[in-house]
Amino acid sequence: MQVIHSVAELRARLAQERSIAFVPTMGNLHAGHVALVEQARQQGKCVVVSIFVNPLQFGPNEDFDKYPRTLEADCEKLQGSADIVFAPAVAEMYPEQQSFYIELPPIASELCGMQRPGHFRGMATVVLKLLNLVQPQVALFGKKDYQQLEIIRQMVTQFNLPVSIVGGETVRAIDSLALSSRNQYLSDEERTEAPQLHLTLAQVGASLGRGVRGFSALEDEAMEMLAKRGWQVEYVSIRCQQGLGKPKVNERQLVVLAAARLGVTRLIDNLEVCL
Ligand code: PAJ
Repeated sequence: MQVIHSVAELRARLAQERSIAFVPTMGNLHAGHVALVEQARQQGKCVVVSIFVNPLQFGPNEDFDKYPRTLEADCEKLQGSADIVFAPAVAEMYPEQQSFYIELPPIASELCGMQRPGHFRGMATVVLKLLNLVQPQVALFGKKDYQQLEIIRQMVTQFNLPVSIVGGETVRAIDSLALSSRNQYLSDEERTEAPQLHLTLAQVGASLGRGVRGFSALEDEAMEMLAKRGWQVEYVSIRCQQGLGKPKVNERQLVVLAAARLGVTRLIDNLEVCL
């Protein structure tokens, strides 16, 4: 496995490769990231993983400075499954101030985009840059960040980027909490409470499965349940899997998405429901 920090070296090294599978990350890797890299490995291509904490996708009051940076441990976790780790410094990715951005569709201002204005614009901009640098045939993203995956799919389709986007299933701790680099901000008490986010989504999913169709009543009930347990809820929302629009009553491919804070830690999760 080769660790590359510069764009020039990356381009020179990848010029020898005909077929690349790519997993972009911000590092501090856990089993969710590793599962994506292993899925990439199965494609039988050269596997490139990027590790870059992208300043463009963090708001001014967010955790850019304290986001865990653990390159050495990350590289150890990737031994045997990645061929190349691309870990550029901020000045390497943004040698001049980024003044071109992608203009995003309205869905990027809903759900997580409500509380994080500019987040998806910064995310899509860096993903476009990374796809241009790596030029993979396949790029893999986790369903844990469902809205991110949908925005990337739309960007790739609408800009005719020559890459297939593959979604990986969410990897969870044994008590169902979705793995996230941000889980380490949780106190012991909060960590015990954290699985309730997924359990609440599962209850909404079960109601949908029983045929309940009052979507906004189900969303309100779920938000109330979490709020009563001490969560600061941003949203619980039932959407169409494709496009993430508001569903009609007869929609069968649904996804329930949620974001809520426990103390200072913001957690997101989602559950696909196919009826
Ligand atoms: P990051 O949060 O590091 O996530 C990198 C990839 O791992 C994303 O595709 C994310 O959806 C996936 N992932 C995270 N937790 C997961 C889990 N528990 N199960 C399965 N997959 C999981 O997402 C980003 O970085 C950035 O926004 C990025 C796309 C790299 C652009 O900067």
